[in-house]
Amino acid sequence: MTMSAEQRINEESYTSWRQRSELEKMADLPQELDDELTKLDKEFWISGSKLKDIVKYFRKELEEGLSKDKQNIPMNITWVHSLPSGKEKGTILTLDLGGTNLRVCKVTLHGDEAAGTRKHTLEQEQYTLPQSLKTGEADSLWTFVAEKVEDFVKSKGLDQEYSSDKPMPVGFTFSYPATQGRIDHAILQTWTKGFDIKGVEGEDVAQQLRKHLEARELPVELICVINDTVGAMVASAYTDPETIIGGIFGTGCNAAYMAHTSAIKKLDANDQRITDASRHNGTAAGDEKMAINCEYGAFDNAHRILPRTKFDEQIDTESPRPGEQTFEKLSAGLYLGEIFRLVLVDLLDRGLVFPSSQTQNTTALKQPYSIDTGLLSQIEDDESPSLTQTRNLLSDILSLQPTDADIELCRRLAEIIAVRGARLCACGVAAICLNEGIQAGHVAADGSVANKHPKFKKRWASALGEVLEWRGEVDPITITSAEDGSGVGCAIIGAMELERRGMVRDG
Ligand code: BGC
Repeated sequence: MTMSAEQRINEESYTSWRQRSELEKMADLPQELDDELTKLDKEFWISGSKLKDIVKYFRKELEEGLSKDKQNIPMNITWVHSLPSGKEKGTILTLDLGGTNLRVCKVTLHGDEAAGTRKHTLEQEQYTLPQSLKTGEADSLWTFVAEKVEDFVKSKGLDQEYSSDKPMPVGFTFSYPATQGRIDHAILQTWTKGFDIKGVEGEDVAQQLRKHLEARELPVELICVINDTVGAMVASAYTDPETIIGGIFGTGCNAAYMAHTSAIKKLDANDQRITDASRHNGTAAGDEKMAINCEYGAFDNAHRILPRTKFDEQIDTESPRPGEQTFEKLSAGLYLGEIFRLVLVDLLDRGLVFPSSQTQNTTALKQPYSIDTGLLSQIEDDESPSLTQTRNLLSDILSLQPTDADIELCRRLAEIIAVRGARLCACGVAAICLNEGIQAGHVAADGSVANKHPKFKKRWASALGEVLEWRGEVDPITITSAEDGSGVGCAIIGAMELERRGMVRDG
């Protein structure tokens, strides 16, 4: 296959197998398979100029979300008015409802009295979410959460330390799109990431949780609901003043940043709460800010610009919410493994991989979502010349007996899919930076793709540089590993909210 000049823009981020010498290749692919791979490579590759086109649309959708309610990218207002000063103190109970676990933490913030570099201490428990809960009823979900909070509170003796007169403040990281009229209020707009629990969409999750906590007579009070992106941004800003964006590149994908309130046209400029907050924070008039949870996983739900393959279309059609989260379905961890699986199944059905002469058991491969995105990372991490690790993974996880050509194919495919994901992930951040005029700083990133994929950060940085046309040696905007957003970040936001309440009470 010939590469266009454009595709060569950044060879490092382009599929590196094209640069590997014949000797380093595991095996030559049969012509038919090689042709197939070339076709896939073309379909999945997003050139530098295409990235720029995507970013143009992205900027427009971000702006529309700031201007009016109910736009495709909702740009949710969070009532977090500032980044932390680093002095915030207090003890908060935090809950994080993730895709696989419920994490409960007791976080103590030490503020500027930190001993050495430790600005917080944390005790935590993690509880696996039963699969059935994710597609069950609201009541079962909140019963589960409240029960685990009760276990935690009692096992740590917090029921002795706190009372109904002096309850322990609770912060809740709820990482789904929610409309917040206040910080302790969050109406779920739609479930994402494969969740489909009945009776929650359109309802206030804070109120549903509160009811279940109250029924157990626990000495706790829910004071804030936050998104994981906002948590990542705030937790990182607590120790890193150069933080500009909090991004999650994990099971789902999304980002948050501090917007000037004047740019949030859908917000009432005379809202007393903004004036109060800015007075409290000592912000100069006209410089008031608000953390925006973009929810940009929904970008391009109208399918105007993102190049979708038939595999992406299949994922969407078979998902619980077809037509939603288009961008997320192309780039986030929940889906990358599934895209990989769908391509393999397609090749298998056409007799191009895993030959039946090898007594294949393809049951696992045929099972939807049987391939975790971690497998793609592990395959790309495999540096052994004979790719033994990849062979073992395919056999252990999928009970397959791969030929050398199958292994080579899997390695290239893992790369093609992950490269596209990382390049797309850069688009959301580029669009925010261009709209906000941000030219330098740290994107505090969390999530399994950002932190576990061996090449994500490098590919993401290359793509961002292509869009923003960086020429220098040093990248002005860099990705950093976010501090614990759903624990520490949520606690800091809780502490800021308690301070604000104190201020409102004190007049
Ligand atoms: C959710 C966001 C979240 C992101 C990362 C998306 O599916 O809608 O609220 O921030 O996943 O967890």
